[in-house]
Amino acid sequence: VIRVIIAIDGPAAAGKGTLARRLAREFNFAYLDTGSLYRAVGLSLLRAGVDPADEDAAVAASADLAPALLSDPALRDEATGGAASVVAAMPMVRSNLLEFQRNFAQHPPDDKAGAVLDGRDVGTVVCPDAPVKLFVTASPEERARRRTDELLAKGQAVDFGEILADVKARDARDSGRKDAPLKPAEDALLLDTTNLDIDAVFLRAKALVQKAL
Ligand code: C5P
Repeated sequence: VIRVIIAIDGPAAAGKGTLARRLAREFNFAYLDTGSLYRAVGLSLLRAGVDPADEDAAVAASADLAPALLSDPALRDEATGGAASVVAAMPMVRSNLLEFQRNFAQHPPDDKAGAVLDGRDVGTVVCPDAPVKLFVTASPEERARRRTDELLAKGQAVDFGEILADVKARDARDSGRKDAPLKPAEDALLLDTTNLDIDAVFLRAKALVQKAL
């Protein structure tokens, strides 16, 4: 069986997740949000009162992730995202999470015909042979605006300036690290969603997937 792998990368809050879920639904493929794995590592440290920069603790947490963390409501918190980007810079943490991601892509649950993975390094490191690679971006201001709206909708008190500073700090950490930095694969299609709505982005991505089938 030839399985189709769709790799979607890009910075925080660019719309990767929305696009990935929509593509997975459209083609009945499995979906993996790879950021949730890094978030789970970050959250387990925050819960234990350990500094996310503590490498030994982060490596240990990534080697033995409690599955319940992946559905914890605090997984999506801003603080968890920050901790995730700190542990994500550690090569041992990344290598501990790699096999799970590759295995998901190659053997998707329920024997689905394909898998959609989104993250920072899916097209460059996790699945470099994926036939469909998308790199989704938007300006930092637009991403901070979306993130602010999302948190407000959840009833959380937020400050746009703080969110924008968070977005920029996370971009700098994700792009600046040595191991698997955030960057488009050479053969990725770039989609800037600053002025494109999700329907337009979806249609372009869908056409690309159909060509690969
Ligand atoms: O996408 P999300 O905001 O959930 O990702 C949280 C953090 O996990 C990112 O800021 C990034 O540092 C890290 N990450 C990564 N590689 C991935 C997915 C996420 O380094 N494939």
